Amino acid sequence: MMPEKVFIPPIKIQGIKTKLVPWIRKNAALRYDTVWIEPFMGSGIVGFNIAPEKAIFADINPCIIDFYNHIKSGKINSHLVREFLEEEGEKLAKLNDAYYYEVRERFNKGHEPLDFLFLNRSCFNGMIRFNKNYDFNVPYGHKPKRFSKAYITKIVNQVAFIENKLKYSDWDFLCQSFEETITMATSDSFIYCDPPYIGRHVDYYDSWDEKSELALCAALKKSGTKFMLSTWDHNDFRTNIYVKSVWSFCNKITKEHFYHVGGSEKNRNPMIEALLTNYIPYIGINETMKSNEQLSVFDIALY
Ligand SMILES: C[S@@+](CC[C@H](N)C(=O)[O-])C[C@H]1O[C@@H](n2cnc3c(N)ncnc32)[C@H](O)[C@@H]1O
Repeated sequence: MMPEKVFIPPIKIQGIKTKLVPWIRKNAALRYDTVWIEPFMGSGIVGFNIAPEKAIFADINPCIIDFYNHIKSGKINSHLVREFLEEEGEKLAKLNDAYYYEVRERFNKGHEPLDFLFLNRSCFNGMIRFNKNYDFNVPYGHKPKRFSKAYITKIVNQVAFIENKLKYSDWDFLCQSFEETITMATSDSFIYCDPPYIGRHVDYYDSWDEKSELALCAALKKSGTKFMLSTWDHNDFRTNIYVKSVWSFCNKITKEHFYHVGGSEKNRNPMIEALLTNYIPYIGINETMKSNEQLSVFDIALY
């Protein structure tokens, strides 16, 4: 079977769910009029591919939200992106690291969304990481011809895809904490959560600990609407203890996934990913489903 084509957004982030999008889509509880709520949008890859008519994309990182609000308002468009990356790419080709660090300094003063795009697509491993003063601090990702013609065209097409979607969809981009976003849910909503993974090393804008995990669980329960949570289940060395404690009321399906640490194939780390839901998800072949209250044969037959 041909793998499903997944649209890659212009801003990338570590832990991006590219390979998991078809699995998430298949198991999400969506109707034609569902309002998609994504409190931890990151790159936005999940919601952008599911492409609901109405959506709230939120994140605590203002740079991500600013970038998409600039596209929405027309301050950024695909033509401007091409012009900007061609110009800046040429300077980078001439001056190398020195120019990357000049743009990084400029970004940390002005927080211009196009500078953010430039840094995101030329920094080490496409990481998004800030220090305590909220300064972007990822080093340069050395590569010859960083902004080649083909690479720029790829990014321009990614921006054009979002521009086009925004013409026909009602999508909001909000910079706020997950608590605020989840309270916006109504009975027509479906909430998809992909928070920083508890107990794993994270480099995101904010830290994530047990208190956050408990607060997320409480907010989702209170919302009274259907939700899906991405988390890790186990790897060869460790198990996510929160799946059986905090999230014990959820149904669980799992899938093996490889996270890349660095660019090299040998750094592929196998991990069992979990999708936790407060409804019965679709169950495909080769997927496992477990729940604290095991599903009855009758329940499964319905799906
Ligand atoms: C795992 S990433 C999401 C990845 C995304 N699903 C993707 O595939 O690109 C987690 C995101 O949660 C955001 N985040 C961290 N703490 C948050 C909070 N308290 N409220 C809202 N967003 C938060 C981070 O800025 C980061 O973008």
